[in-house]
Amino acid sequence: MEIPIKTICCIGAGYVGGPTMTMMASKCPDLNFNVVDINEERIESWNNKNLSKLPIYEPGLKELIAKTRNKNLFFSTNIKEAIESADIIFISVNTPTKTKGLGAGKSSDLKWVESSAREVAKYSKGYTIVVEKSTLPVRTAEVIENILNSAETNSSRDEISFSVLSNPEFLAEGTAINDLNNPDRVLIGGKNKQAMTALSNIYKAWVPEEKILFTNIWSSELAKLTSNAFLAQRISSINSISAICEVTGADVKEVSRAIGKDSRIGSKFLDSGPGFGGSCFKKDILNLVYLAEYFDLYEVANFWEGVVKINNWHQKRITEIVIKKLFGTISGKKIIILGFAFKANTNDTRESAAIKICKDLIDEGANLVIHDPKVNYKQIEKDLKIKQTSKENDSIETSIKGQIGQWRFSKNLDIFDNAHAILILTEWEEYKYIEWQNVVKKMVKPSWVFDSRSIVNKKEVEKAGLRLWRLGDGSQEKEVSSF
Ligand SMILES: NC(=O)c1ccc[n+]([C@@H]2O[C@H](COP(=O)([O-])OP(=O)(O)OC[C@H]3O[C@@H](n4cnc5c(N)ncnc54)[C@H](O)[C@@H]3O)[C@@H](O)[C@H]2O)c1
Repeated sequence: MEIPIKTICCIGAGYVGGPTMTMMASKCPDLNFNVVDINEERIESWNNKNLSKLPIYEPGLKELIAKTRNKNLFFSTNIKEAIESADIIFISVNTPTKTKGLGAGKSSDLKWVESSAREVAKYSKGYTIVVEKSTLPVRTAEVIENILNSAETNSSRDEISFSVLSNPEFLAEGTAINDLNNPDRVLIGGKNKQAMTALSNIYKAWVPEEKILFTNIWSSELAKLTSNAFLAQRISSINSISAICEVTGADVKEVSRAIGKDSRIGSKFLDSGPGFGGSCFKKDILNLVYLAEYFDLYEVANFWEGVVKINNWHQKRITEIVIKKLFGTISGKKIIILGFAFKANTNDTRESAAIKICKDLIDEGANLVIHDPKVNYKQIEKDLKIKQTSKENDSIETSIKGQIGQWRFSKNLDIFDNAHAILILTEWEEYKYIEWQNVVKKMVKPSWVFDSRSIVNKKEVEKAGLRLWRLGDGSQEKEVSSF
């Protein structure tokens, strides 16, 4: 018998909950979607009439919000009501790495998942399908089931029942709407076939049936961690090769192109950069490391931990290169940072390589001017844990002169006066069109461009008279030692 579905609740209105429910609401106009969060400010932003003030920037998101919001998609803090009326509840809350206690530094902190499960147990009515949308350690479904079946409830126990499913989200920030619209696959893990079918029916409104995979719940949980671990491992692999390219005279772009033609390897995710960031890769690998250690699989744990270690090393390597090229000191030197988000087309800065690199440069005494088209200065202050030197509208020059080890934000790109170097950290499209002929006139000589994303036109930069360091480009090294 088919389970009737009319109303959906999503707990957590973040980078996953918000866009995912918006896509579902746009594809299923006959269903109602209530997205709830404990963060009032976030919900206010989701409800802001001005669509450029949504809490999340993703290409295509505001257009979908305009189509669905307050029609069949509602954002609120009324968690009780949303749970009470829901046939399906997605748990989409944050699962960061634990900072203290057992498993600190590796395992996921499940306190937000636990409190969501307790709320579901308390307020739900009748039969409810509970879906893990958050990325969770293997066997968390068991924990959720336990809580649902034993926590305090408002209804009597024989009036309520649950099925727990795992339905991890594979969207990538920056392309979230496109990924949700055309997913490579939708994974549904569970025991109860009817519940799995009810969930898959929502997706079938726009996802071809052959892309919807049913697995057991543990495979589904592990597949998500594994998927992120493989992606991060690819980034660490190519970044480690970039270091070899630089000392041997090879060019990582050419190496990537050559290996990407091998159909067994494939060409995607082979761009070297300043190291992976985002809220997921590091956290999910560390989770895998914790799982392997828990089961005494130390070689497996070491293998995956290496992916994170090389990422940290790689970020430090970039800072050291900047310092070395600027004659071994950056104290009091103005350095322009282009991009703070962990990748282009998102305003998310979680685990962005820019955080560590900027902190290290400030520690070395540099005066940074940070530009990013979508990240605001308040977020950068939070990430760096250092206040910017002056307000946004003050002249950059006045704020920088004579001070060391500071940073300030700029919304525009009129920031190159007296700069010693430019360091590109995010591959925003607009950085490809900088007029280097004009920029060089304003900078201190020798003027450097450090391109950690390989996005600038090498010929144009060099023709303008700038010195260029491009990640993984060994052709810049005049003398390559023979071995
Ligand atoms: N960000 C991504 O690209 C991505 C992709 C796939 C999967 N994931 C996973 O999805 C999950 C959510 O990630 P995110 O990036 O959306 O996180 P997020 O921090 O942006 O959003 C989580 C939201 O949950 C809310 N919340 C926490 N506890 C709550 C509670 N008890 N009741 C109501 N709201 C509560 C928080 O206030 C926050 O707004 C994580 O497990 C993450 O690993 C993230």
